[in-house]
Amino acid sequence: MGSEFAEKVILITGGGHGIGAAAARCFAEAGARVALADVDRQAGDRLSEELIAHHRQALFVEADVSEGRDCKLAVERVLDTFGCIDILFNNAGITRRANVVETTEKEWDAVIDTNLKSVFLMCKYVVPVMASNGGGVIINTASGWGLVGGKEAVSYCASKGGVVLLTKAMALDHGKDNIRVNCICPGDTRTRMLVEEARQLDLSTDDLIEEGIYRPLGRVGEPGEVAASVMYLASSLASFVTGTALVVDGGGLAGSA
Ligand SMILES: NC(=O)c1ccc[n+]([C@@H]2O[C@H](COP(=O)([O-])OP(=O)(O)OC[C@H]3O[C@@H](n4cnc5c(N)ncnc54)[C@H](O)[C@@H]3O)[C@@H](O)[C@H]2O)c1
Repeated sequence: MGSEFAEKVILITGGGHGIGAAAARCFAEAGARVALADVDRQAGDRLSEELIAHHRQALFVEADVSEGRDCKLAVERVLDTFGCIDILFNNAGITRRANVVETTEKEWDAVIDTNLKSVFLMCKYVVPVMASNGGGVIINTASGWGLVGGKEAVSYCASKGGVVLLTKAMALDHGKDNIRVNCICPGDTRTRMLVEEARQLDLSTDDLIEEGIYRPLGRVGEPGEVAASVMYLASSLASFVTGTALVVDGGGLAGSA
């Protein structure tokens, strides 16, 4: 039996590393045509070449998704190459671990523009394409810290809280276009971001990964486990799911013990 993703086109922002790269591999494995948009040209080229070497259809577009011009060009490149966009996974993100006093205006803008404005921009250009094609699916990467606050992470929490409500607002607007819009709220996941957070907090490299033992499942998540939730939301199993924020965090937000 063929996969329901065979020949579907998915555009993944931040597809060069971590959760985005894991999703790219999963969707490619399921037969989808995968477009990666990332600011990291080396990582994007490497992964698209890996996928093509495995007889998958892949495209890398170098883009800074905090810039409207890059988002528009990325969407045009994907349409020129694959002709449509069925699934948009807005996943690119950065973090800055600091309180409101220590966060500079430049850092605030960088985090909000990369994590939140990028979702607005990509959707602005992709929604009309999906609507004229009879529908589509959008999945945004928020965070557990889009639902509850976290210490010393004001710009990150503000950006991810924004992603959660942007998701819900778009779900209201575009259900009529047969476009489902959902977000995932991962907890700590083993990617470069956790290492970068540890660096910013003056912790050792693995400290945040080891803190996973305090979660109900006793560990941090793996990128592939988060990618699996994206596949679920993109699939027909989730055909009646829109406007939701799916927590994927090993029980981290389940309550206090
Ligand atoms: N790792 C975690 O613990 C965790 C937890 C909750 C949410 N998230 C979210 O998951 C998403 C993916 O993060 P990750 O953990 O895989 O981190 P990562 O650093 O491994 O991957 C992030 C990707 O985004 C790309 N990127 C950054 N800025 C960009 C820009 N301006 N334009 C285009 N691409 C850009 C990077 O090059 C990289 O490929 C992020 O939105 C992050 O906030 C991660």
